[in-house]
Amino acid sequence: MVRILLVAPPGAGKGTQGALIATHFSIPHIATGDLLRDHVARDTRLGRAVRDRLSRGELVPDEIVLDMVSVAIAEAKANDGGYVLDGMPRNIAQARALYEIGRSLDMTANVALHLKADDEELVRRLLARAALEGRSDDTEPVIRRRLALYHEVTHPIVGWYASRGILVSVDAVRPVERVARQILTALEAMRPLVDHVPEHARRSIDLTGLGAAFGQS
Ligand code: AP5
Ligand code: MG
Repeated sequence: MVRILLVAPPGAGKGTQGALIATHFSIPHIATGDLLRDHVARDTRLGRAVRDRLSRGELVPDEIVLDMVSVAIAEAKANDGGYVLDGMPRNIAQARALYEIGRSLDMTANVALHLKADDEELVRRLLARAALEGRSDDTEPVIRRRLALYHEVTHPIVGWYASRGILVSVDAVRPVERVARQILTALEAMRPLVDHVPEHARRSIDLTGLGAAFGQS
């Protein structure tokens, strides 16, 4: 079963592509940001504790997201065993903790999917979304803070997944359907392998330059 981590900057399309992947493989889409915003909307104790951090674009404490995600992964295990995790890990400590959780449940990720896009495109997308959805963190200064934090603490984990041999990188500055087609093609091609290739034998795949091979004009 495919177990995917989406590691990508704000606005790169984690939510958009995560939903398409989840539908395609009939696996749960576990989105930490959505879970947190749901708590804020319901005004739960946890929601009140994280609301200001979300609005400022700061990360919430690791334990909070790790608790939420352990429960969700245990649920995924009880079902078909696949998942697409959107928005986590966000730093090296979360990456390690998540790996331990995965090991304890025999549910470690077999693909880390990285969506590449430049900052100016990301700012444009998020400001466009702000007009439609009104997310509290979609203001230009907070978007820039989220991007800076991504570059500083999140992006370094991409290299860690490359060295583990589970990284798939995709150019996300193309229409949604093109990005989706490339991702699903890569994941389908890997599907027979993910359960049978031992972790140490996996190699990372960089699809950034392969747009033409997937029908990009
Ligand atoms: P989170 O909800 O994860 O937000 P984010 O990382 O800032 O990313 P977004 O949700 O804004 O973007 P996305 O990559 O999902 O892109 P989308 O598909 O929506 O986190 C929010 C906050 O929660 C964090 O700041 C932090 O406070 C907290 N948090 C969450 N996880 C945490 C963790 N693990 N640890 C600590 N704190 C955590 O697309 C964006 C827009 O672009 C949309 O309008 C979409 O329609 C459009 N679009 C998508 N694809 C394309 C395309 N190919 N071309 C053109 N437009 C596109
Ligand atoms: Mg999102």
